Amino acid sequence: MGVTQSLYKNISERVYEFNKSSGNNGVPGIQLILLGIILSILSSSLTLKYLHKQKFKSSIKPLPAKLANNKERRWGHWKPEAFKAPIPKPYPDWDFKTTRPIPYRAFKHKYFVNMGIRSMDWNEWIELDNEWQKYHDLKLHRIATKNEQLYGTEPEARPAALELLNEFYQYLPNRYPKLFKQTTIGLDNLVTGESFNFFDHPLQEDPMLMIAKLIQDDIAVMVEAEDGNYYLKAGAIMLAGFWRLKDKLHLCLSDIHTSGDVPKYSTHLKAGMEKFFQRQTCDKPVVRNNYFIQTDNNLAWSDSIGDESNDSIGWYTAPKVKNIENCYFRSERQSVRRLPISGAMIFTVRTYFLPVEELCKEPFVPRRLFDGINSWDEDVKEYKGYEAFKDILMPYLEKKAKEQEAQGYTIENEKNCYPY
Ligand code: HEM
Repeated sequence: MGVTQSLYKNISERVYEFNKSSGNNGVPGIQLILLGIILSILSSSLTLKYLHKQKFKSSIKPLPAKLANNKERRWGHWKPEAFKAPIPKPYPDWDFKTTRPIPYRAFKHKYFVNMGIRSMDWNEWIELDNEWQKYHDLKLHRIATKNEQLYGTEPEARPAALELLNEFYQYLPNRYPKLFKQTTIGLDNLVTGESFNFFDHPLQEDPMLMIAKLIQDDIAVMVEAEDGNYYLKAGAIMLAGFWRLKDKLHLCLSDIHTSGDVPKYSTHLKAGMEKFFQRQTCDKPVVRNNYFIQTDNNLAWSDSIGDESNDSIGWYTAPKVKNIENCYFRSERQSVRRLPISGAMIFTVRTYFLPVEELCKEPFVPRRLFDGINSWDEDVKEYKGYEAFKDILMPYLEKKAKEQEAQGYTIENEKNCYPY
């Protein structure tokens, strides 16, 4: 058995055994009670060792999706499925120094509030580029200053976090072989020399922290509970700009969004999103994109809406922007997929960030962005901080749009290429 297979087997067994211990698979009550006592007495590291020794004890193994029949599960009782994500192809000509960020320009002439999800190509789960080092350095700086406010794994999400490590173990070195290499115990970063051990008992670091150091994205783990809701139970939220893990941890999908006053959440999003989360299968990952205007150059935390350590933050405290140099285009590319063993939903958020002045050099962009922002409803304007930048941004976009139109870059000549 190759390194890949044996590590996979090992991790999925750990995940599976842990799941079992949490009562997710119909383990007989007496075993559960015994485990409960053990869990309360032992530290989590000892518990993992104990669980590790228990492998192969059960005859219950991940089943093909049809047999697992999760469609008819009781909420919060996912049965492990035998699904494996396809091994990705190497990113064509990927280079640490020269591969540029994907130019998502995810705005249309008319803004609609909807889920806006599309199916995801498995190759493209995680996007890395020549800004990897910048994102990594920023994350390390934030870890040094804010540390545990930025990441964490609650016990309910531990199986999912371990399973997720295995997903990265498979995905990253296959997709980015110039950056990551598989070892017998985890991954090596070929550029920074960092080594990650996914298999220590206990792990040397929180699994979400390890993941944060591997990728440019922020990441969240949503765990289904018996009420059918999905709760944020683990994550590494380091560069989110406008929100903090501590404000959303333990909240369900709906509360995460309503506590942030996401416009039209209750009328246009809630029902569809909840249904989507409950029905999502392991083989159908999705992506969506969004965009914001930010009025400062801080990728990690937008100081314009208040200091990160303030109790209350929001656009209502933001000063009006004074010049176009302080207007930045911020766009997230998000993915959602379900893990087969734990059944947790994994949400990744990759942020792309550039000055508006740069953005507006691109054909058709100023008019489309102008129209898009101009079509925001009042609640969207409020949510996205329109008042703070409108007097500078809108005249600038209009001026640039007119310059381009004089050169023939008109709406009639524009092709629909969303989200680019
Ligand atoms: C299909 C899945 C999802 C959809 C369609 C969705 C939709 C949205 C929308 C429309 C917004 C407003 C900003 C924007 O235009 O993007 C938003 C904001 C947000 N979403 Fe989601 N979302 C999804 C999943 C998640 C998940 C799994 C999390 C878990 C952490 C999450 C956390 C947030 C947060 C923290 C905000 C900002 C709220 C604030 O301003 O406080 N979303 N989402």
